[in-house]
Parts: sequence; C-alpha cells; structure tokens
Amino acid sequence: MVKDKFYSYFSKFFLSSFDRFLNFSLKFKLMKIRKINIGDKFDLFKDYWSPKIIAELNGQDIKLAKVKGEFVWHNHKNEDELFFIVKGTLKIKFSNKIIELNEGEMLIVPKGIEHKPIAEEEVWLLLFEPSNTKHTGEVKSDLTVGNYERI
Ligand code: NI
Repeated sequence: MVKDKFYSYFSKFFLSSFDRFLNFSLKFKLMKIRKINIGDKFDLFKDYWSPKIIAELNGQDIKLAKVKGEFVWHNHKNEDELFFIVKGTLKIKFSNKIIELNEGEMLIVPKGIEHKPIAEEEVWLLLFEPSNTKHTGEVKSDLTVGNYERI
C-alpha cells in the first residue's frame, strides 16, 4: 500500500538521520576528550592567588594556582576545599595548629573551618571544588577574584 510505503520510507529516513545525529554527537564528545598536561598549564600564568580553571566535571572545577606570601583568614560556609601540592611547601594555619604540606601531599579543609594558607616560597597548587566556590569564602579582600579565568 502506498501508505505503508510512505511510512516505511519516512521512518527509514527519520531513523537514519537520527542515527547520523547520534553518531555526530558521539564523535563530538570523543573529539573533546583530550589529555591535560598540568606543567604546560602552569607555564601559562604567573600571577599569585588567582586560580585558573583547567577542567570542569559534575559541577566541580579543577583549578590551578600559584601562591606566594600570606593569604587572608577565611572559611567556606558550604564547601569542603581540597589543596593538592604540585610544587613547593604550603603551610595551612588553623585556629589551633599549622599543617605543612609538601609536594605530592594534599589536605581537605572541611566546610566552615577558618584557615589561612601561607607560602614562604612560590607554591603550585591544584584545587578541586564546586564551580561557585569563592577562594576567599565570605571574606572580601584585595585578593578576591570574581570570575576565574579558564586556561
Ligand atoms: Ni579556602
């Protein structure tokens, strides 16, 4: 029947373009998978206390930062904060103690806990936190960065 032929032609055409679209979208996703060289990313910037976004996943950012000197006392009301040391030695001051982190070491500051990072020499850091996290918490200071640059 003409009607059946039409439907069969129509569904074939529709399905094959849908198929092609799926294929395209898969190809696009696969195309976007790229490795990231952390060292190369650190070569792209020099400014201190100014985290750069290098990747995003599940509503979280992976950021890199170079730091030197003393940061401000602050806390993050809603986010735990991860510090991973790529290079150098970072001291993190808490109200009752100081923890020294060396290359290859990491620490998580639980939400709500006051902390003050101190880098006597230049330190390279990797941070992992929800995309809306402000690095100075609720504290506004000269060091506060509004929008993080993507590199
Ligand atoms: Ni913090």
